[in-house]
Amino acid sequence: MSNGTGEPAIETRGLVKIFGDNRAVDGVDLTVPAGTVYGVLGPNGAGKTTTVRMLATLLRPDAGEARVFGLDVFTQADAVRSRVSLTGQYASVDEDLTGTENLVLLARLLGHRKPAARERAAALLDAFGLTEAADRQAKNYSGGMRRRLDIAASILNTPDLLFLDEPTTGLDPRSRNQVWDIVRAVVAQGTTVLLTTQYLEEADRLAGRIAVIDKGRVIAEGTPGHLKSSVGSGSIHLRLRDADRRPEARELLERVLGTTVHADADPLALTARLMQDGNASGPAELASHALAQLAAGGIVVDDFSLGQPSLDEVFLALTDGKAGRSATDTTATTKETKQEAVA
Ligand SMILES: Nc1ncnc2c1ncn2[C@@H]1O[C@H](COP(=O)(O)OP(=O)(O)OP(=O)(O)O)[C@@H](O)[C@H]1O
Ligand SMILES: [Mg+2]
Repeated sequence: MSNGTGEPAIETRGLVKIFGDNRAVDGVDLTVPAGTVYGVLGPNGAGKTTTVRMLATLLRPDAGEARVFGLDVFTQADAVRSRVSLTGQYASVDEDLTGTENLVLLARLLGHRKPAARERAAALLDAFGLTEAADRQAKNYSGGMRRRLDIAASILNTPDLLFLDEPTTGLDPRSRNQVWDIVRAVVAQGTTVLLTTQYLEEADRLAGRIAVIDKGRVIAEGTPGHLKSSVGSGSIHLRLRDADRRPEARELLERVLGTTVHADADPLALTARLMQDGNASGPAELASHALAQLAAGGIVVDDFSLGQPSLDEVFLALTDGKAGRSATDTTATTKETKQEAVA
């Protein structure tokens, strides 16, 4: 429940966590308004999980400040804990217990009496589409069912703030949609959600605001629309009649638009980002100029569309060229290990 005072759900200033000589979180400032979904996006090893763990009082910050509903995560950790929940927190979802047994057990641990615990478990299993699997052992659940059970466990008591750390990684589109619906329902009840994800579409669909983090720092923050418009005015996607003309078309477009034109996997397709130019030509104007030039060159375009930049493009533009995305794939290993530990 948001507190109605306009106080942010989360506020951090200069938050730092150092592992050895690795500044995993290197001065993060975040302000998360209460009652919203806030997206934290970043590549492997960016520091998302480390940030979440500090905010959920599971890890002690090395420097900086972090408050959850005005409570200091370090000196008032117990009070913070009473108001937050984290998926993965109940990594103890017992493989040998059924869906119902798991939820009833956890609800009992949270202090619910047995009838209330059963009722809550049944309601959540129903809401998460798990009624049919309610009496099946969790070890026989699919990845998507498992994830839904994890989230169900984390909202047995409606938390004021829910941390969802990559809740849909590895899920198929249908399961992902189900999780999105759950997130929307949770927020509709007044819970603030901090969602980390590598799926930019997910943040775009769910989050009111997004922080993009890379190497332990926030490199961009804003609404999805704001982030998109910061990178350019959109892109044009073309399908040519004749694949042989593509190199020529590409060269012409690069000249006309003054940007790099991407040759898609489809041998007929080209994609170019339309940059806001100094003359302030709008994207439609730029695109029609480009099409006219192709026509003048005798290159037939069968189909074209004009799009807003995707968050993927935003992400690549923001993290591009910032040298030293050190190919240390050690972070990927860390993540897998961690996720196994959570699974
Ligand atoms: N307990 C730990 N001990 C040592 N190093 C750690 C620990 N936890 C995380 N790190 C390191 O801190 C950095 C940030 O890791 P973190 O898990 O926060 O990244 P992430 O953004 O969640 O990445 P992913 O998308 O892969 O989950 C990485 O370099 C990681 O290897
Ligand atoms: Mg992580």
